[in-house]
Amino acid sequence: MIKHDVLIVGAGLAGMRAAIECCDGLNVGLLTKVYPSRSHSGAAQGGIAAALGNSEEDTWEEHMFDTVKGGDYLNDQDAVEEYVKAAPNVIYQLEHFGCVFSRTPDGRIAQRSFGGHSKPRACFSADRTGHAILHALHEQLMKRGDQVRIYNEWYLHFLIVQEDRCHGVVVSNIQTGEVEIIQAKSVVFATGGYGRVFKITTNAFAGTADGAIAAFNAGIPLEDPEFVQFHPSGLYRQGILFSEAARGEGGYLLNGKEERFMEAYAPARMELAPRDIVARAEQSEIDAGRGWKGEGCIALDLRHLGEARIMERLPQIRQLGIDFIGVDCIKEPLPIQPSAHYSMGGIPADMHGQVVMDSRNTPLQGFFAAGECACISVHGANRLGTNSLLDATVFGERAGRSAAEYARSVGFGQINEGHEKARVLKQIEEIFQRPGTENYNDIRNEMKDTMMEKCGVFRDDEKLTDCLQQVRTLQARYKKGRITDKGKIFNSELYEIIELGNMLKMAEIITAGALNRKESRGGHYRTDFPKRDDESFLHHTLIAQDGEELKLDKKPVIITKYPPKERTY
Ligand code: FUM
Repeated sequence: MIKHDVLIVGAGLAGMRAAIECCDGLNVGLLTKVYPSRSHSGAAQGGIAAALGNSEEDTWEEHMFDTVKGGDYLNDQDAVEEYVKAAPNVIYQLEHFGCVFSRTPDGRIAQRSFGGHSKPRACFSADRTGHAILHALHEQLMKRGDQVRIYNEWYLHFLIVQEDRCHGVVVSNIQTGEVEIIQAKSVVFATGGYGRVFKITTNAFAGTADGAIAAFNAGIPLEDPEFVQFHPSGLYRQGILFSEAARGEGGYLLNGKEERFMEAYAPARMELAPRDIVARAEQSEIDAGRGWKGEGCIALDLRHLGEARIMERLPQIRQLGIDFIGVDCIKEPLPIQPSAHYSMGGIPADMHGQVVMDSRNTPLQGFFAAGECACISVHGANRLGTNSLLDATVFGERAGRSAAEYARSVGFGQINEGHEKARVLKQIEEIFQRPGTENYNDIRNEMKDTMMEKCGVFRDDEKLTDCLQQVRTLQARYKKGRITDKGKIFNSELYEIIELGNMLKMAEIITAGALNRKESRGGHYRTDFPKRDDESFLHHTLIAQDGEELKLDKKPVIITKYPPKERTY
């Protein structure tokens, strides 16, 4: 059995920031199913928010208000306040860690506009901000190499929970196929989101809900899973992200009649309205037959920005357009469509990264979460662009600190190694022994199509009911799937099958939450209940397993400074 004082699962921004925070004097493990520098945080492009005021006067209060209004008042405002106040120092610390931010002509950190932010507060490294931060943090980890052991290409199966305390995880070394127990005094999950449940997504292949479902299977309810953000500018049919920075720099959205249609949906903010509003506007234009060139897409037009600005500020998206569809945005618009991008919901945690287990916020000792897998609910029902790199960094640090404090205060508990390993070996054996009458790739594709069509930008009772039933049918078919590789070494087919099982569960949970929330708020829009209903639904959703059924519960929203009011842009 492997032992660490603190084990962190996931090596993106939140995971690496947590590791840096807790390695002083403790024995730390950092486990990732890819490599740290290949984590999905590296795909974040446009910026990280902080009220530095380098471009226009700005305050944390304005950042807080924009975040709460953007989140359609479902945010926990005590956490939002801490988070926006922490932002400026986080930027300076990242800079001191070696992250190279783009500059103003007089040498200060440049800041650009982003959707839903009333001031230009996105600090950026051209359009590769996540990549720049990820590598700066990775360098910091390398510097602390003797204190942190990194497990590259290891897969998380289960969380070990006994007597209301977390004791570690059951994992596999993907290279050898060996199942191992890692015992830890504290475990931090920073396992990312679950955009891969949907057909068109900006998410990396790794975004398969492993962490969320491991927590769920350990009895922790998931919070607000129905709130999935669709980014307005994923590449048509593929989802590859074209950063919102393109609109922050002045890009236009055009429909098939070459109109800047946002005039009709958010006249005061146009293309820089929050993502939920822009994504719905795009989908409405497409559904009304006004897509670009008669297709199911919208045009992102950057031509008027000129080559020099595009090459300085948006070089990556220009290259992505050229590489993936042969379109050079200096000369032609890029075809885009709403693409599943971010999970506002996840593992419920407080503002210190402590995971909580119920509506009374009872802590699960020794278990912490940060980044996209966690629901600290700073984003409420809809996240503003550039607020997630900030979330990962602020709460990665806090979760790391809390995990270290807890690990220093306790000894290792007792775990039944044989029993824990046997759970995974049984699961793998079951996959190997299935009758083989179903094809997992078909099941995966059908799940993605179903979720996209019936649980996407626009939802209603009929579509969601059908979606839930189809997902459950797919879950039944999954139990009869066919694996072709029964070997141990680098059996990527096996892990993809386990990931598919996680995604099917996550799809069921998202849909159940969406069906239950009979109102429209932020990223969750019901055409049959088009208004926000604070009287009946100003609360968080909690969903747990109860025998064969899902059990739904509520948790109050913490409102401190900004009571809900009408949300217009
Ligand atoms: O569009 C983007 O650059 C994405 C940023 C974000 O999700 O925060």
